[in-house]
Amino acid sequence: MHDVLTVHGGTPLRGTITVRGAKNFVSKAMVAALLGEEPSRLRNVPDIRDVGVVTGLLELHGVTVAEEFDGDLLLDPTDVEMAHVADIDAHAGSSRIPILFCGPLLHRLGEAFIPDLGGCRIGDRPINYHLDVLRQFGAVVEKQAAGIRLSAPRRLQGTKVDLPYPSVGTTEQVLLTAVRAEGVTELRNAAIEPEIMDLIAVLQKMGAIISVDTDRVIRIEGVDRLGGFTHRALPDRIEAASWACAALATRGEITVLGARQLEMMTFLNVFRKVGGLLDVGDDGIRFSHPGGELNSLVLETAVHPGFMTDWQQPLVVALTQATGVSIVHETVYENRFGFTDALRDMGAQIQLYRECLGGLPCRFGQRNFMHSAVISGPTKLHAADITVPDLRGGFSHLIAALAAEGTSNVRGIGLIDRGYEHFQAKLDALGANYERTMDAVPVPAAV
Ligand code: EPU
Repeated sequence: MHDVLTVHGGTPLRGTITVRGAKNFVSKAMVAALLGEEPSRLRNVPDIRDVGVVTGLLELHGVTVAEEFDGDLLLDPTDVEMAHVADIDAHAGSSRIPILFCGPLLHRLGEAFIPDLGGCRIGDRPINYHLDVLRQFGAVVEKQAAGIRLSAPRRLQGTKVDLPYPSVGTTEQVLLTAVRAEGVTELRNAAIEPEIMDLIAVLQKMGAIISVDTDRVIRIEGVDRLGGFTHRALPDRIEAASWACAALATRGEITVLGARQLEMMTFLNVFRKVGGLLDVGDDGIRFSHPGGELNSLVLETAVHPGFMTDWQQPLVVALTQATGVSIVHETVYENRFGFTDALRDMGAQIQLYRECLGGLPCRFGQRNFMHSAVISGPTKLHAADITVPDLRGGFSHLIAALAAEGTSNVRGIGLIDRGYEHFQAKLDALGANYERTMDAVPVPAAV
């Protein structure tokens, strides 16, 4: 069965919603709990499917995970044990987080098994950097039919790592492995996203010694033992920006409680340049359409402190309503414009190019990837039947359907539950007009 949202669009979204902890931090902090000898408490945890996947994986490894209050998790890793391969394998394809279990499991148990990874199909998403750094720490990596088996014949050793690209996941891999390795690890060209800084804060609470230089260099002095932590997750800046773009695209006004200025400064600058109005308060940010025309712009996505790749898809929907020609150059993933096919079907004028347009040449130039988009606007969006391709692309389809005149069917909407907490309740709070039903079209393979 296929989950369908039938959206009657064309009405501005207006109201107040709340975002909780960041999906791309909470899952990593839950893995960090595995490194401690004592229980940890994580607060502000959203009710999303990715949290369920990590909970399942932790429980398979003997960690008890209990929700003490709404959004407060108690994670007890006292009895960590090796899981059965068949059980781990049942999680194959459900998320990319299992790769981050490697370091903690190697420290706790001397071995780990990682199933084939899932996550959104927005490019090849290789794990070569992860496996290279694990080998540098001294892990033995053996590829098997159903996944990857790793072992640590002796205690993992601190090392010097120079990443070819500031990968978020690989930086987290190094942090989660180096904190209990013997000696010092120096990581160059590290990613420094706010979610990574919050993970470093968690690890420091557990007893780790980590310093971050201004030039993407992170130094970790390994320690013999880590304790637990109590921590409140930073807010989800991707979700906050997605709702902000929904306000722009539907000519509405949305107050996002929980959204914080500091982690969103780059987005806020762009939102303002497009013509959006924003009001930063103590407990959230109000985003609204100016009433008149929106401005086109030239933008490229980049690692922090650049404009996040995950902000790109909802912004592109808003740019279809801007006057003039906008250029968006995607430099983080080679294949993140697939969602624009559906927007074109809805009347948007978007052309994709192989060239690096409007910015500096990136890794994908001359490599045949359609990674630049030219968006001409404003165009009136009309209703369509759409199938959600991935998490962020799917949310942008939802925004487009809400902005379009008429009734759209958005299929595979369940995918959005992976990363947007209670999005239907939020749509209700914003006055959206929709129904959720099931149809008989087969669900595509797990993403
Ligand atoms: N890369 C490699 N080899 C590797 C690892 C990465 O070539 O071993 C490449 C990737 O293919 C990509 C680039 O490096 O082109 C950046 O990937 P990165 O490792 O930074 O991404 P990630 O850790 O897999 C996280 C988020 C993504 C987010 C990116 C970039 C999680 C679970 N996922 O992915 O979030 O887009 O960082 O900020 O934290 C999402 O939330 O929808 C999402 C896709």
